[in-house]
Amino acid sequence: MNQGVELTWPNKDLSLRASGVTSYRWVTESDATLRRPLTMETFSTVPIGSNSNLLAIGDGLDVLEALSETSVFTEGVRAVYMDPPFNTGKTFNQYGDSLARPMWLSMMRDRLLALKPYLRDDASVWLHLDDSEVHRARFIMDEVFGEDAFVASVIWQKRTTRDSRAAFSSNHDTILVYALSGPRKWKLSRNLLTKEETTLRNRDDDPRGPWADAPFTAPGFRKAQQYEIVTPSGDIVRPPRGRSWYATKPTYQQLVEEDRIWFPKGGAGSPRIKLFAHQLRGLVPFTVWGSSDVGTNDDAKRHLLELFPERPVFDTPKPEVLLERILHIATNPGELVVDLFAGSGTTAATAHKMRRRWITVERNTQTVLDFTLPRLQQVLAGTDRGGVTNQVSWVGGGSFEVVQVVPRYGTLTGVHRSKALRSKLATALPRPNTTFASTA
Ligand SMILES: C[S@@+](CC[C@H](N)C(=O)[O-])C[C@H]1O[C@@H](n2cnc3c(N)ncnc32)[C@H](O)[C@@H]1O
Repeated sequence: MNQGVELTWPNKDLSLRASGVTSYRWVTESDATLRRPLTMETFSTVPIGSNSNLLAIGDGLDVLEALSETSVFTEGVRAVYMDPPFNTGKTFNQYGDSLARPMWLSMMRDRLLALKPYLRDDASVWLHLDDSEVHRARFIMDEVFGEDAFVASVIWQKRTTRDSRAAFSSNHDTILVYALSGPRKWKLSRNLLTKEETTLRNRDDDPRGPWADAPFTAPGFRKAQQYEIVTPSGDIVRPPRGRSWYATKPTYQQLVEEDRIWFPKGGAGSPRIKLFAHQLRGLVPFTVWGSSDVGTNDDAKRHLLELFPERPVFDTPKPEVLLERILHIATNPGELVVDLFAGSGTTAATAHKMRRRWITVERNTQTVLDFTLPRLQQVLAGTDRGGVTNQVSWVGGGSFEVVQVVPRYGTLTGVHRSKALRSKLATALPRPNTTFASTA
């Protein structure tokens, strides 16, 4: 399909491996160090199994490799959501965001390739980016999954305030959606959006309950569906030009007898069909997602400030409502969601509240200690009242394990070393070295 068109970059044929906490290094496949097994330390007494939720501290690629020795992927991954550093050239409080472009491209390609063998046939991959790299990332996704796997570019309205200093005030991110099986097949297993029951009203005291309405027309000219309708006010109406009535005259008459036709404007408007709750199909998602439906970056920050009022806020969190929509479309309860760039832990927190299984990976130990871990503990304890807690009726419960995978290259110092981390975890947790479970 690509007909010889390919994105190339320096060192594309090499592998990029994590070195220390923030760096990477290029390595050849013959590098002897690569053959050394990775060290994975577990902070739980319970073995990692095919039912575990997992918070892994380390580099995403290293963690995937280390986990290949366990049974966490036995059931297969139903959805991947990843919100990596966008390569904006900025430095955030919790992480740097300026990799040399060849490194960023290899970093993304290598993680997508490493995830691929674990994906189920009905899996989808959601990659969240901004304009810095999204056009190049699409080439990478095409290369890894095939052009035919492209499903959509979702535009998320991430802010509602205007930046008057910029040439354009960018207020959107892009989420690239790919499905291994391609959009046609994946469509059969993905979930539609639920139509808000609050949009149903009972304008005529129908004993069958509240209803929504839709035009009683269909596109195109069909002779059997061209006839005159007399409205209750006595006006004669015909289908608009280029359209037909929704059904033939006998069917229309039957619908009138069943009180399924509604004439707006006090009986003078064109007919509309009444649709009761059980007749409504879910909605096919649009590709533009507004902030009023799925929240903004600032909403996510406010949620984190409620959880951690004493701490400078995590710079780039995503709102739980955004993740709720993605996970609703892409997964069902019990299915496995993977995020290799955890940050404050939005994917895992939302997945947990929605009763999905999850694996999330964060490289920065301080971020894990400050945000990811305590946030997930609050989710388990049922004390996080924000985000989608009410929407999905979450009251607490469940468990997760914590592991650390030490990079093969470079050294770990300070809080990132497993000995220091172990002592930090011991003070962060009520019962150190156990599964972080709640009985709620
Ligand atoms: C944009 S933030 C993710 C924000 C997250 N979606 C949230 O809602 O909080 C990206 C995160 O990826 C982490 N990160 C960067 N490179 C990584 C790597 N190679 N492996 C694992 N995590 C990494 C950064 O430390 C940062 O916390």
